[in-house]
Amino acid sequence: MPWRDQLPDLLRFTFAYADKKGIIRDYHSSFLHFTPGYSDLRGEPLCEAVPELLGMESVWRAVLKGKTSFELPFINKQNATFTCQIFPAGHPVSGLWIVFRDVTALAKQTEEIQQKKNEIRILQARLDTRGHIAGGDLIGESPAMQKLKQMITRLAQVRPTSVLLQGETGTGKSTIARVIHQAAHGSTAPFVEINCAALPENLLEAELFGSVKGAYTHAVHDRKGLVEEAHGGTLFLDEISELSLPLQTKLLTFLETRRFRPLGSNSEKTVETRLIAASNKDLQKLTENGTFREDLFYRLNVVPVRLPALRELDNDIILLADHFVAFFNRRFNKSIKGFTSGAYKAITRYTWPGNIRELSNCIERAMIFKDEGCIETDDLVFHHPPRAKEHILLPENGIDLQELEKKLLLEALEKAGGNKSRAARLLNLTRDTLRYRLEKYNIDR
Ligand SMILES: Nc1ncnc2c1ncn2[C@@H]1O[C@H](COP(=O)(O)OP(=O)(O)OP(=O)(O)O)[C@@H](O)[C@H]1O
Ligand SMILES: [Mg+2]
Repeated sequence: MPWRDQLPDLLRFTFAYADKKGIIRDYHSSFLHFTPGYSDLRGEPLCEAVPELLGMESVWRAVLKGKTSFELPFINKQNATFTCQIFPAGHPVSGLWIVFRDVTALAKQTEEIQQKKNEIRILQARLDTRGHIAGGDLIGESPAMQKLKQMITRLAQVRPTSVLLQGETGTGKSTIARVIHQAAHGSTAPFVEINCAALPENLLEAELFGSVKGAYTHAVHDRKGLVEEAHGGTLFLDEISELSLPLQTKLLTFLETRRFRPLGSNSEKTVETRLIAASNKDLQKLTENGTFREDLFYRLNVVPVRLPALRELDNDIILLADHFVAFFNRRFNKSIKGFTSGAYKAITRYTWPGNIRELSNCIERAMIFKDEGCIETDDLVFHHPPRAKEHILLPENGIDLQELEKKLLLEALEKAGGNKSRAARLLNLTRDTLRYRLEKYNIDR
């Protein structure tokens, strides 16, 4: 065999040349592997000779017209993965090159890398569960936090039911999911977490429900999905609002029957797992505009848990701030004493749109730059400046300042639902000053 003819075998590719009408004019002998039943291909129509190209006439016509090339992946009966590339040949284009390339080794490697990435992600999630704050260590004494702690204890005692955690970003949804898991199953059972916004729909389906060999181009092995990995433990679906409608349907069926079908499989699997879902969007609203299935919402919402925003947690802000100072003292090996009274005031007055995470980041940043003493107001960086002071124009004939003050006090109390600490914050006053002014105006609430 001339040395040139060996090259395609060595490099595991083969090729043919077809004219503008799609008639094969020349080819490498190994191309016959792809044309079952033919002993010579010259003069044969491409789409009839190569079954993989059946119905693809419009594609090679497009290649003939422009400069674009085309690549089609497929798996043959022997489970080898190939790509078929179609290139324009000649200047100006006088025909087509059809190149088959054996990419089985590459597909196998890609699959193995994906598998390893999954394993790392799952192990990481398990490690995080162990290192995370234990149930008793959830910081906060406010009524809202106590209710939350009671709920966690209850949930851990009952048979796995779906839990839906809703709350603004940074309020502790992921933390609470882990705490519920830990309380219910301990640290040895699997805690499997996936962010539904992190992967495109087609990958997410395989990731969640697994796939069998040949289900898609690079599926060289059967692959377990995360739902199955979570058997006997918890499956935590973060940002569930981002799940596509078809996947919502598949999840609903799984929740109702505990059974699912991996991608490309003919048989079903059964899995027992506790499902915790989280969202910082209002799912009920999403059901109203049709982007979230109502039946899935009700199925998930068996136990709704709303995580309060940090600004609703009253004195817990102080407890959390102190907790983070102690935490970062340990981490940075420092001994910062706490906060000056001015810094405490600034912390309680700020609205914390990023909630507990923002508080933690703010304190971490302050402590990186501080070596001793207390954290001062100037050490704290707030991302949203205090609400702009409104410019009030004094009317020509003046106002009754005391009457206005009384009205504002009543309005703040109203807005804060009668909670004096919160009302004080709305007016930029301390609790004591507020109490004094309420007494002054005989407001008894
Ligand atoms: N009650 C709590 N006590 C102590 N630390 C907490 C508490 N709740 C949350 N945290 C801490 O606050 C940070 C943010 O929490 P987490 O990541 O759970 O919020 P999230 O609601 O999941 O945020 P996102 O919506 O962005 O996913 C974490 O560092 C977590 O350890
Ligand atoms: Mg989270």
